[in-house]
Amino acid sequence: HLEESIRPYIDLIDTLRSAGIHKDLALPTIIVIGDQSSGKSSVLEALSGVPLPRGSGIVTRCPLELRLKKVEGGVSWKAVLSYNDKKNEFVDSSSLETRVHEAQDELAGKGVAIRDDLITLEVMSPGVCDLTLIDLPGITRVPVNGQPQDIGSQIKRMIMKYIEKQETINMVVCPCNTDIATTEALKMAQEVDPDGKRTVAILTKPDLIDKGTEKRILRIVSNEVIPLRKGYIMVKCRGQQQIDDNISLEESADMERDFFQNHEHFSCLLQEEKATIKSLAVKLSQHLVDHIKKSLRQLNEQIKKKLWDLRNELKECEAGPPQDPRGAKKFLIQRNPGRHEKSPLHPIWLASFGSN
Ligand code: GDP
Ligand code: NA
Ligand code: MG
Repeated sequence: HLEESIRPYIDLIDTLRSAGIHKDLALPTIIVIGDQSSGKSSVLEALSGVPLPRGSGIVTRCPLELRLKKVEGGVSWKAVLSYNDKKNEFVDSSSLETRVHEAQDELAGKGVAIRDDLITLEVMSPGVCDLTLIDLPGITRVPVNGQPQDIGSQIKRMIMKYIEKQETINMVVCPCNTDIATTEALKMAQEVDPDGKRTVAILTKPDLIDKGTEKRILRIVSNEVIPLRKGYIMVKCRGQQQIDDNISLEESADMERDFFQNHEHFSCLLQEEKATIKSLAVKLSQHLVDHIKKSLRQLNEQIKKKLWDLRNELKECEAGPPQDPRGAKKFLIQRNPGRHEKSPLHPIWLASFGSN
């Protein structure tokens, strides 16, 4: 029922992205943004059931597309990691973290630089929700050793490029133990989506909250402070101690439910479906599919326009270059296949027109 209606939409967009369409057209996507260490990877980990690279400092250096596919029977767990022309399959998750690191090193170079090249991780399991999200580098202010002075603005530029598109759902991750209203990521989302139509906020680390701030946080979750149409959801993930104690993701989900059930202030969020990773997964799938449905007409228009432009260009190509050398040179320069990447005109072409 629900799943059958969701999967085809998500598959359509995933397939278009695989074909590289996102370089020309904006595709509906969920983008995960937040300050460094706000809990982005922990949330993605809990959603996917896969341990992801995480820790302090800059861990996500390239956009990571996480495609979650619910499969029934047969496969118990399978993952495929792809980037550039490489594809690696995994049947258990133990080496995954290392392989994502290797992929980043290959794309962005060893060290601490960031780069806007997509790494795709497809996870097939009966235990996941149908969902595709893209994790971006966390916002940071202070460059760490070896990072360029402007790393902060580099990261913000990359984030902006993704979230300013109308086709993007902005999933903003904010820890409960900070001043949510002044979170940089939320401010950026507000800038590009002032009405909060396509922004959803995830409040993390409710167990680390400052005593006495519970009421204010409840007002935020109830949409009374910064109203967002897609609202707020509070989640509790594994803290460092629980990771060190080898608490599994399943155990952590049970602990999350107990935490909210027994919480003096936040237990009400359970009934309202504004708490837990599980509600988050269900809501995100629904948001994504609604968003894809809404975007399909625009996508169709965009494709038609592209096609029209390309047909015109093809006609001009068929007519061939003009007779005079100068006109011919201009014609060829305009049709240099590498012109979008600002690559130089092929030396052979240049040579054939001399140096004028
Ligand atoms: P990212 O940099 O935004 O990807 O953040 P991480 O997911 O790496 O999390 C940063 C730290 O916060 C890690 O040590 C996590 O274990 C911890 N953390 C994440 N979520 C929670 C939570 O709900 N409660 C607690 N106590 N710690 C959390
Ligand atoms: Na981190
Ligand atoms: Mg991270």
